[in-house]
Amino acid sequence: MSSSASAPGKVILLGEHAVVYGKPAVAIAIDREVRTTVEDSDVLMLNGSTIDLEYHPHIEHILSKYGDMKVSITTDTNLPPSSGLGSSAAFSSSLICAMRMRKNLKFDVMEIAKESFETEYAVQGRASPIDTYTASLGNGIVLNCPDGLGEPIAEVTKNGNAWKVSRIKVPDMTLVVGYTGIKSNTGPIVERVRRFMDKNTFAREVVDEIGNITEEGIRAMTRNDLSKLGDIMLKDHKLLSILGTSCNELNKLVDAAMKYSYGAKLTGSGGGGSMIALTDEPMKVAEAIILHGGLPFVVRTNPKGVGEV
Ligand code: PMV
Repeated sequence: MSSSASAPGKVILLGEHAVVYGKPAVAIAIDREVRTTVEDSDVLMLNGSTIDLEYHPHIEHILSKYGDMKVSITTDTNLPPSSGLGSSAAFSSSLICAMRMRKNLKFDVMEIAKESFETEYAVQGRASPIDTYTASLGNGIVLNCPDGLGEPIAEVTKNGNAWKVSRIKVPDMTLVVGYTGIKSNTGPIVERVRRFMDKNTFAREVVDEIGNITEEGIRAMTRNDLSKLGDIMLKDHKLLSILGTSCNELNKLVDAAMKYSYGAKLTGSGGGGSMIALTDEPMKVAEAIILHGGLPFVVRTNPKGVGEV
């Protein structure tokens, strides 16, 4: 028996880091994905080799939940790993979906999103639900959405944290992702911002300001005002840089892309990983990114979420 599912990656359009402190953040699914196939096997295998679960905590978490440890998992993706583009959440969502198909459970996207978040949280300890809900539901997801802007779909609580998850309508937009080639490591960067916030009123004001402009940006996006949205993205990048989450490589790519873009910024935790540019001239932006040492790819908005393939 074989079951296959896919789930999209994501970019955070606005609000990363500030979302850890209860501010809104908006993520959109992108048309790059992880595909996962689960088949019968006498021993646990990943991409044709036997594995030690100690080094694959996501797989261990998911397979134990379904009490089915002897399977062959094959996974394939066009998302670079550890690039701030949600490959880990997309893998969890697609594996959960494939396992549920294998167990003849009905397709339940909210259940997949919840289990995927539980997996990421168990493995990483601190994840907000932004990656896992975007990988599962596709399109646009807002955490802590200001009232009246999105459609609330879930309340997620974990260890004293609570997040309101809403869907948001995303216009058709062209984004160019620029991967720095430097792996980003979310946990330590989130921790560094926390230390800065603990010591510094000024850092807390920056986080408040990110919250305010994110709300403004969500409003601009819903009325398809790309020029305004782009201005806010660049401002967000500057505020994130003040928080210490950017790096020279990201700044170089943002600068280079700005010549042909409405706006550009780092996406995800930063410190490496990727930036995004909102543009009508994707080829010119892609060229500029290559010239400045990045790996570009053009993405379109509004792919569907997790599902059978
Ligand atoms: O780099 P990513 O995709 O793991 O995004 C991290 C986003 C943060 O706001 C920095 C942390 C979080 O869990 O929301």
